[in-house]
Amino acid sequence: MVTTDEQLAHPQTFDLKTYLNQQKGEVEAALEAAVPLAEPATIYEAMRYSLLAGGKRLRPILCLATCELIGGTAAMAMPTACALEMVHTMSLIHDDLPAMDNDDYRRGKLTNHKVYGEDMAVLAGDALLTYAFEWIATQTENVLPQQVLRVIGVLARAFGPAGVVGGQVVDLESEGKTDTTVETLHYIHTHKTGALLEACVVCGAILAGATEDDLQRLAKYAQNIGLAFQIIDDILDITATQEELGKTAGKDLQAQKVTYPSLWGLEKSKQEADQLIAEAIASLDHYGDKAIPLKALAQYITARKN
Ligand code: IPE
Ligand code: IPE
Ligand code: MG
Ligand code: MG
Ligand code: MG
Repeated sequence: MVTTDEQLAHPQTFDLKTYLNQQKGEVEAALEAAVPLAEPATIYEAMRYSLLAGGKRLRPILCLATCELIGGTAAMAMPTACALEMVHTMSLIHDDLPAMDNDDYRRGKLTNHKVYGEDMAVLAGDALLTYAFEWIATQTENVLPQQVLRVIGVLARAFGPAGVVGGQVVDLESEGKTDTTVETLHYIHTHKTGALLEACVVCGAILAGATEDDLQRLAKYAQNIGLAFQIIDDILDITATQEELGKTAGKDLQAQKVTYPSLWGLEKSKQEADQLIAEAIASLDHYGDKAIPLKALAQYITARKN
């Protein structure tokens, strides 16, 4: 198999599909090892059920790719990459609860609460969220302690009330309203989705010892792909099938969510996402061929089918 290093040595041979498969395989193996079955069995089973259910693994891959771009190794970033996927999976388990989006399917399987009950799904989320921080703090090697501490702070802020949680609150409060402004929609997207994607990129960079200039450039890239990511999620909710998505289609209209397509229609939303991706890609020109994986990942966000 062509390795990432070989592909980067010959940029014209870079193949995103091969790269994604390879990175995904490594992330899956690390996640499997990170959460072995233990007692009490119910909670570990519930955590593993959602964590190991597939998914694109985009967040850990972004973290690994950014760490490598700045000159770090994948090993330095793998505990954080796994933690990001744990936190993301937790957000999905809670997002699907009847009290939130009330979804029955996720990643092609029944949602966590459908299998384990709402009580265990809440706890599986709590467990993944806290375990994620334990994993970074105890497993990160060959990184300066102050950088690990900074990563923990960045991830906590990205997920908390100033980040994902805040975005989810306004998303829920905006349901059924017809007077939601573009500014509010922007707040929802940049917080419920953008904040964690930005943390993936920024944490990968911090672990590799990035400069403040690097962090600013990379944060800009991440903000653009983060917003585009949720616009595409909202488009796919309308245009894709349940089989393609692995989750119920058409949910946003049903729940009267405010989305880009609901405000501007599908075509303008797609153009907006394409524009954001173009900007994201341009902000990485500084890094030359080394940025090929991150540029390809940005393109994948608008090209994806699930
Ligand atoms: C879904 O995220 C939730 C959103 C932020 C839109 P993904 O589309 O990355 O879901 P998985 O991880 O691939 O299942
Ligand atoms: C996802 O927004 C945000 C988080 C899970 C934090 P959605 O509610 O649109 O995600 P899906 O469509 O259920 O995956
Ligand atoms: Mg939601
Ligand atoms: Mg949802
Ligand atoms: Mg959605």
